[in-house]
Amino acid sequence: MTITLRQALTSDHPVMVGSVQRWWGDSRTPEQARELSLLLPKLFLQHFAGTSLVALAEDDDGTETVAGFLVGFHSADQPDVAYIHFVGVDPQRRGLGIARTLYRQFFAAAERAGKLVVHAVTSPGNTGSIAFHRALGFRLLPGDRTVDNADDTGNTDDVTVHSDYDGEGQDRVCFELALGSPGDR
Ligand SMILES: CC(C)(COP(=O)(O)OP(=O)(O)OC[C@H]1O[C@@H](n2cnc3c(N)ncnc32)[C@H](O)[C@@H]1OP(=O)(O)O)[C@@H](O)C(=O)NCCC(=O)NCCS
Repeated sequence: MTITLRQALTSDHPVMVGSVQRWWGDSRTPEQARELSLLLPKLFLQHFAGTSLVALAEDDDGTETVAGFLVGFHSADQPDVAYIHFVGVDPQRRGLGIARTLYRQFFAAAERAGKLVVHAVTSPGNTGSIAFHRALGFRLLPGDRTVDNADDTGNTDDVTVHSDYDGEGQDRVCFELALGSPGDR
């Protein structure tokens, strides 16, 4: 299998929405997966396709499928900031470095555009996303409280959380990576 990246297109929108509904279908109810896909309205691909990426997997038989994607943009109001809104990788193809490759390409383009930092946000319960962002060198921006995301073996893991970040009860974990730091290579 070979992975290639290309810039996203507005026409990728239906595939991305369908992918979210399928890829998250095993860990969520169909309704929850549909709700999640609402985080990706078409406007992101109408206005930010140029800073968003699609990872294509070509299998040995030559079949090409979408293996992952990243939707991100360069902040209009904060000139130093690039923001990653959404990243997803096909569950069958996780652990292969696809998301890291998508992030690195996004970092490189952001750096070329003069951005200094990359921001991303996730839910406190999304331990996979928190682990992924930490592995890539993101730091957690200090919030107003700490939750312990203890794992099955009882290992504690304090995570700093911003309460009501996206509205009442919508707590978030906020990440920042300084471009040019070792983590972005
Ligand atoms: C998070 C996600 C994008 C990672 O994709 P991936 O292609 O499997 O990640 P990579 O293979 O590039 O992993 C890069 C690093 O992150 C780590 N990592 C990735 N997922 C992890 C997880 N669930 N738990 C712990 N570490 C993880 C990897 O171990 C790797 O670190 P290493 O190089 O030090 O070993 C993928 O699991 C996914 O699509 N999750 C559901 C969607 C989601 O939560 N998106 C983020 C919020 S929008």
